[in-house]
Amino acid sequence: MGLPYFEINGGTRLRGTVRVSGAKNAALPIMAAAILCEGEVILRDVPRVADVFSLAELLIKLGVDVERRADGALRLVTRDEMNCRAEYDIVRKMRASICVLGPLLAKRHQAQVSMPGGCAIGDRPVDLHLRAMRLLGADVDLVAGDIVARAKRLRGREIFLGGPFGSTVLGTANAMMAATLAEGVTVIEMAACEPEVADLANFLNKCGASISGHGTPRIVVEGVRELHGCEYTIIPDRIEAGTLMVAGAITNGELTLENCRLDHLMAFVDRLAAIGVNVEKTDKGVVVSSARRLEPVDVTTQPFPGFPTDLQAQLMALLCVADGNSIITEKIFPDRFLHVAELNRMGAHLRKEGPTVIVEGVKRLVGAPVMASDLRASAALVLAGLAARGTTKVNRIYHLDRGYERFDDKLRAVGADITRKEGGDDAG
Ligand code: EPU
Repeated sequence: MGLPYFEINGGTRLRGTVRVSGAKNAALPIMAAAILCEGEVILRDVPRVADVFSLAELLIKLGVDVERRADGALRLVTRDEMNCRAEYDIVRKMRASICVLGPLLAKRHQAQVSMPGGCAIGDRPVDLHLRAMRLLGADVDLVAGDIVARAKRLRGREIFLGGPFGSTVLGTANAMMAATLAEGVTVIEMAACEPEVADLANFLNKCGASISGHGTPRIVVEGVRELHGCEYTIIPDRIEAGTLMVAGAITNGELTLENCRLDHLMAFVDRLAAIGVNVEKTDKGVVVSSARRLEPVDVTTQPFPGFPTDLQAQLMALLCVADGNSIITEKIFPDRFLHVAELNRMGAHLRKEGPTVIVEGVKRLVGAPVMASDLRASAALVLAGLAARGTTKVNRIYHLDRGYERFDDKLRAVGADITRKEGGDDAG
């Protein structure tokens, strides 16, 4: 049988309109936050991606009913508060499972969450999450690979969340969720400013929480006794939008993106403009088109509102065919470069020096069999395949399915020659 893979025949210009899905990285913590709520939570625009299915599976084990309604909305209601354990089997599949830690501790006074390991994008410690829980008054131990946390009642206080690579997105989410039901006021300093964190805060406020300052590095949470459910629409996925922008640009095409928030993509659009890609807001959506000649640029990933690490691999694919040398520096996950060797198999000229990659632009990429290593690297290989001469086979696309909703269908609808096939190669 083998695994699913994509076969892509490159060289067609993409043209047409694509709707961007709801943001995976906003939907995941918001789904976990349903643990905190009494009553029904209805979420609109939750993408149908494997990570959402995995978290739904975990929440069901934790006593939350999760149901996709006929109108597409996700309905979550807590039925039973007995189980407080997220096992290794599920955390190993998806690190974002760590975001049940704060809600379980705040609502059920205990949590046992398997300690996430590293992953393809590098070491991914959770020390800042644990620091936040301890500062809020929890006893936290590591027992046989599990984080075991307990607290009769959490108490608000000041929490500094800065680490060697800046703040932490899911750490901020965990601290904020735990603080909603704590006694007194919590101030999170050096909080992550990502739009997904602000979306979580907006959701929690709609449920009766009292959070201010979200979207800035200083978030203030006044604890409340109880949260209720609400209906909420998840923000558009800025990373999917950015990936689609590159798809338009790398094929010299013209795409119109519906449900796209340019205010969440300023650093990315700034780099696209420097490369020579036009991005314009119109009544119909955001229109992306590209001139023939692409200019090289330098780019450094940073916390929001800087250039997102989750678009580093995709921009690299585009810069592979720019006219000159570009420099890409990764400041969030310095080892997030497994796509470099694969892109080189397609004729790119990339040289890695520590956390930096020097991209020497080539005239064109050439189709080849390649292997996806993580979610965003998979997207970069698909983008390269769309521009390459000949056929590209992207193996291990289960990585891509974790975070892109019907990506192949969306690309095909705007003219890409991409087919999902069975029988892929999983040789490691
Ligand atoms: N860090 C620590 N200690 C911690 C937590 C993080 O040192 O306790 C470090 C990390 O090692 C990294 C930096 O802080 O160097 C930032 O990591 P962060 O905690 O912000 O990452 P995350 O919250 O685990 C989320 C996204 C990632 C995205 C990063 C950075 C979700 C579900 N995941 O992860 O998304 O790359 O923020 O923006 O929201 C993806 O979607 O492909 C993806 C990997």
